Amino acid sequence: MFLRTVLSWAAALASLSEAATTGSFSILTFNVAGLPAWLNPNDTPGDKETNAKKIGARLAEHGHDVVHLQEDFNYHTHIYETDNHPHRTATSGGVPFGSGLNTVANYPWTDFERIKWDDCSLNSGDCLTPKGFTFMRLQLDEGVSIDMYNLHADAGSDSRDIDARKSNFQQMADYIAENSVNNAVIVAGDMNFRYTTTDEGLRGFLDQTGLRDPWVDLVLNGVAPEEGIEATVCENPTTINTCETVDKVFYRGSTSIQLEATSWSYDSSRFLQANGDTLSDHIPVTTNFTWKLTSSY
Ligand SMILES: *[C@@H]1O[C@H](CO)[C@@H](O)[C@H](O)[C@H]1NC(C)=O
Repeated sequence: MFLRTVLSWAAALASLSEAATTGSFSILTFNVAGLPAWLNPNDTPGDKETNAKKIGARLAEHGHDVVHLQEDFNYHTHIYETDNHPHRTATSGGVPFGSGLNTVANYPWTDFERIKWDDCSLNSGDCLTPKGFTFMRLQLDEGVSIDMYNLHADAGSDSRDIDARKSNFQQMADYIAENSVNNAVIVAGDMNFRYTTTDEGLRGFLDQTGLRDPWVDLVLNGVAPEEGIEATVCENPTTINTCETVDKVFYRGSTSIQLEATSWSYDSSRFLQANGDTLSDHIPVTTNFTWKLTSSY
């Protein structure tokens, strides 16, 4: 009798555990410098077509679970040719039609939106393409989702750029407030921002959305670089994590999903050409997460 009870408990537990209540995944954000070479060579050695194929091959090899790409414009087909992630966004096109934002993932998603910035500043070529951000509701498991945002903020550093970026961050904060109420969120992409530059609305964005920066939490022991000081700009490739680039990852959990960044690192060494040259003028950034459903789920 006792044994039978134990067995039926075991069976009940087994069926409960079919939908996972905890898990882990890794993400990568990478600006792949895919503007046409004649428009911007990006100081990257090698030809862009070959480099794009290598980037795709590395994505397949290293198997990050979610990869946000920026500037994935005119060499997009070469990246997708060698990448093998089962879920991938359809490109919105090369210059001047697309936003350069794409995502490849090991998980499916239910919703996908491309949102164009309301403001761009003409001087850095930001209005040449419809830059903006994307939204997707990533399905980690049955009934377990995270709202994922990929973005490419306005570039440049004159006052019009700064105004455009402020507007970009406010637009995104408003969108998140409207569309991701009470949801776990990950925002990753090319922010065109460093903490050391004078305020451009990003600190306000973090406050307003409740997002945290795992680079600050895990690498800098919780203390973000001060505004106004000289930035510790990264060399490319970089061998250290304490230097700062404009490519960033932010996240928050929710009352039903406890989300925690467990590691954060530049992924320079795994995205190089055979001779050690870089594949892009940006450094790929990777973060590992664990998630757990809370009892209020
Ligand atoms: C992230 O997790 C993967 C798989 O477990 C591991 O190979 C990788 O080293 C981790 N990344 C970091 C930066 O710790």
